[in-house]
Amino acid sequence: MQLSRRPRRNRKSAGIRELVQETTLQVSDFIFPMFVQEGFNQKVEVKSMPGIYRFSLDNLLEELKEVTDLGIRAIDLFPNYPEGKKDRLASESYHENTFYLKAITAIKEKFPELVIMTDVAMDPYSSDGHDGLVENGKIVNDATLEILGNMSLAQAKAGADILGPSDMMDGRVGYIRKHLDSHGFTDVSIMSYSAKYASAFYGPFRDALESAPKFGDKKTYQMNPANKREALLEAQLDFEEGADMLMVKPALSYLDIIRLLDENFDIPIAAYNVSGEYAMIKAAAQNGWLDGDRAMMEVLMSIRRAGAKCILTYFAKEAAVILNG
Ligand code: PBG
Repeated sequence: MQLSRRPRRNRKSAGIRELVQETTLQVSDFIFPMFVQEGFNQKVEVKSMPGIYRFSLDNLLEELKEVTDLGIRAIDLFPNYPEGKKDRLASESYHENTFYLKAITAIKEKFPELVIMTDVAMDPYSSDGHDGLVENGKIVNDATLEILGNMSLAQAKAGADILGPSDMMDGRVGYIRKHLDSHGFTDVSIMSYSAKYASAFYGPFRDALESAPKFGDKKTYQMNPANKREALLEAQLDFEEGADMLMVKPALSYLDIIRLLDENFDIPIAAYNVSGEYAMIKAAAQNGWLDGDRAMMEVLMSIRRAGAKCILTYFAKEAAVILNG
């Protein structure tokens, strides 16, 4: 055969395959989401997320030694609050002595180089289980912003490096930015959940936090999975309001959205490889239905290929072990 192009030549050995590899994946691309709960000597596996635990602070600090030894440089910390601590106004979220804020400070003290991202939304502290304030069965936007502002300031004071508003209220990035700046926290970053879809893939996360909505769903604030142009609008607003990084969530069913934002915005794009995406691969691997390690690496690489600079993923530790060889 006379073939002028034989693409297989560039695949003939591992060395050549790596020479021509277009996308790379590094441990420093990962943000590891972790769950903290009150108490001492607690390590509770999340039923729907094998290998992922909720830790009390003492055990979390132990775990972080392992995490940082693997080369992971960033975590995203989420709190699990007992029902008794929740109320309509999510007031626990900005009590100075609440365990979540104290955990942030303790982690920062012990691991000063570790990047700590925190979550800004009402759901872990809300007796309604919603990300915003509920009035007469509706999620009210503007009154929620004040609560998010208080929460953000408290997290910044505790030592958070990056705040992650995951609530999808209108105007929250600008509101939080101004609130932080007027209190002198101009150095605290905002990674906004810009295109956050109303997704079935958050199920296992809500098990972890015991934070599922008590009524209705999140469709009046999280986006319709059918929409793409709307993601551009959300991202544009967050950009104008001062977000430092834009996030797409979930990742796998939304690779096109990652690509769209990467092509349209000159700030870093992050993607959240969410709990359900983790659970799917774990469940299939446990059944022997696919090779879990290979599927994990393929998924992470595809999120990078789509245009995400960094990836929030529960696979961070396992992928780091593989990448570190
Ligand atoms: C809530 C929040 C959610 C996640 C991160 N922050 C769940 C939700 O919106 O219901 C999901 C993360 C995951 O599924 O891994 N503000």
